[in-house]
Amino acid sequence: MTITVKPRHPALGAEVHGVDMRQPLDCETIQAVRDAWTRHLVLVFPDQDITDAEHVAFTRHFGEPEIFHQTSLNLRSDRVKEIFLVSNVDGENRLMKPSDPSQKQLSSSRQWHTDSSYRPMPSIGSLLHGIEISRTGGITQFINMYEVYEALPETLRRQVEGRRARHDFSMLHRITGAPPPTAAEQAAMPAVWHPMVRRHPVSGRKSLYISSIYNDAVEGLDGDAARALIEELSVFAAQPQFMYRHVWEPNDVLMWDNRCTVHAVTPHDPDERRVMHRTTIVGSEPVVAG
Ligand code: OGA
Ligand code: MN
Repeated sequence: MTITVKPRHPALGAEVHGVDMRQPLDCETIQAVRDAWTRHLVLVFPDQDITDAEHVAFTRHFGEPEIFHQTSLNLRSDRVKEIFLVSNVDGENRLMKPSDPSQKQLSSSRQWHTDSSYRPMPSIGSLLHGIEISRTGGITQFINMYEVYEALPETLRRQVEGRRARHDFSMLHRITGAPPPTAAEQAAMPAVWHPMVRRHPVSGRKSLYISSIYNDAVEGLDGDAARALIEELSVFAAQPQFMYRHVWEPNDVLMWDNRCTVHAVTPHDPDERRVMHRTTIVGSEPVVAG
């Protein structure tokens, strides 16, 4: 297979043709996808009519799929345990209300974040398959955090350089009103500290590493100052020149890098079905920038 790569935005995001995720892939194709991923940070693969098993098999070319640790909200598929359900439709194919606990928790993804940053080894990337997509919103927005880091005003740069922020899974329930994690889930995922500036192990570039949903503390700052700093950084990051906005078509598969991008989804009409399946690639400990 030879692939073609067409950028969708100057900062990040490119469309990839010439990959069929239902077929076995040769090493050259996999390497070409890796190279395109390193360069464009978010890859869009249109027209991938794949099963969950094919989704997981494609993911394995890039690393081990994560198994979501929380089982209390049915966000993990019970058919294929590597699949995380980004969906407002339940196991009986019924539309769920925004007040459903799983929907409350998923609403956190409207704020800027990277997946699994609450883990000691946060995910390196995620692959999201649009099965039933929204026409009223549900646009997934991505920011190039290398460019954000490079453009930071000196005052902000001084505040993040060499500093760590804490990432806590239980922030989800505090900010969304979803039920708290169970004691076992809490014990499995204690809060962790990660550098606010990290170096990408493949590209070698430095990027800003923050989360509007999981960060609950910043080294050396009290709670209010920490929240204010994360908010100021997020507002600075969310500028159009750093952002690709993905308007979904059915059977798009998006593959993004969680080490150097953040993402957030726009709201949509809750009466509209939206069904997406995600795999998440197990990570490595963030490299401290130096
Ligand atoms: C995700 C997420 C984006 C979306 O799947 O990690 O944040 O478009 N969702 O729902
Ligand atoms: Mn996400």
